[in-house]
Amino acid sequence: MSREQLIAMTRREMDNQQHNRIDLMPDVLQVPTADYYDADRWQREVDRVFKRVPLALAFASQIPEPGDFLAIEVVGTPLIIVRDDEGKIRAFVNQCSHRGNYVTNEASGNVKSFRCNYHAWNYNLRGDLINILDERNFGEVDKSCLGLTALPAAERAGMIWVTLNPESTLDIDLFLNGYGEMLEHLRLAETHVAGQQVLEGPNWKVAYDGYRDFYHLPVLHASSIGRESTPKADYYSWGPHVRVTAPGRFDDLEGLPEAQWPERLMKSGVWTIFPNISIAGGVTGPYMISQMFPGKSPGESTTTQYFAAFESPDEVDQQGLKAYMSLMVDVVRDEDYYTGLRVQKALATGAKKYSMFGRNEGGGQLFHRWIDTLLETNDEDLPDLFNNIPEHLRVPDKVPGN
Ligand code: FES
Ligand SMILES: [Fe+2]
Repeated sequence: MSREQLIAMTRREMDNQQHNRIDLMPDVLQVPTADYYDADRWQREVDRVFKRVPLALAFASQIPEPGDFLAIEVVGTPLIIVRDDEGKIRAFVNQCSHRGNYVTNEASGNVKSFRCNYHAWNYNLRGDLINILDERNFGEVDKSCLGLTALPAAERAGMIWVTLNPESTLDIDLFLNGYGEMLEHLRLAETHVAGQQVLEGPNWKVAYDGYRDFYHLPVLHASSIGRESTPKADYYSWGPHVRVTAPGRFDDLEGLPEAQWPERLMKSGVWTIFPNISIAGGVTGPYMISQMFPGKSPGESTTTQYFAAFESPDEVDQQGLKAYMSLMVDVVRDEDYYTGLRVQKALATGAKKYSMFGRNEGGGQLFHRWIDTLLETNDEDLPDLFNNIPEHLRVPDKVPGN
């Protein structure tokens, strides 16, 4: 089914190019500039977006074996992602039930259990409390209720999603809205993280706006990656997740029967995962997966760039990878975020009341509408929002299944 969607999208891109058409939203969208610097608004985004929707936090390939784990901090929440004895992904708050210490201080590793280094309480890979030091003298407690706090976690398309709200009723597949099936085409499960680097940037939305934005490519990146780029883009959405493509990249497919169209070519462009991931590249080299998080204040964000390669670790062209990673620092830090930090400063003057997203900036328009809607939606209404997505939160209908 999803290969049909890929073909339909590719056909449409070819058709758009032939007829010199691009996707246009009905209107220009105005986004209040205060949405980028107001501290209350920013805190609500952290609480009502990052702490409530499933977040793609890691790659399945980072923890392939039972007992493999990652310990990370996400918008202030320390958490553990682990593959249990049966191969299932689990996530827990990194917090001991005794008096709250982290149950691991390592960033990653392979363990049989998590033993707190404060007073040695021990938890298995399913998060159950299995041992209390000097239990007889500790006093009576019900061990079965004192496991680690589990967070909803799932593995889809080679990535691992975790929801920071342990009580969340928002199902991952409902949230993905068919996008998981599309992401399968990227075959991330067959890649491994060959490199990663961290960049500091402006407000997380100022930073993230640049990833769905082809409009700036031939301008801001005129002397780097944008030399041959078009400022035009087409958009496809599944729930809040948007794919951005450039019309006219499919000349190699002309004359080939559809059955022979290589997925490698059909999956070009940028695949975003709401609210903070962009996946680019992968057609001829490794993917660059950028993951943004709000920083310590509205004007700061942190981006991790992951470089996911199909070659096995010892086959990766290390020199080529190094050059690509260094180019991506130059482009993102010195062009995108350099500009973003100036945007941030200028926005905070309040001199302009609105920023604008043009009719061809559909990805940006949808993103800001989704953020606004989530801020207004109560926990109990979240599943209903994803079950009945209102018209204004979709790219206008174009291809089957979109
Ligand atoms: S805080 Fe973990 S055993 Fe005491
Ligand atoms: Fe850019």
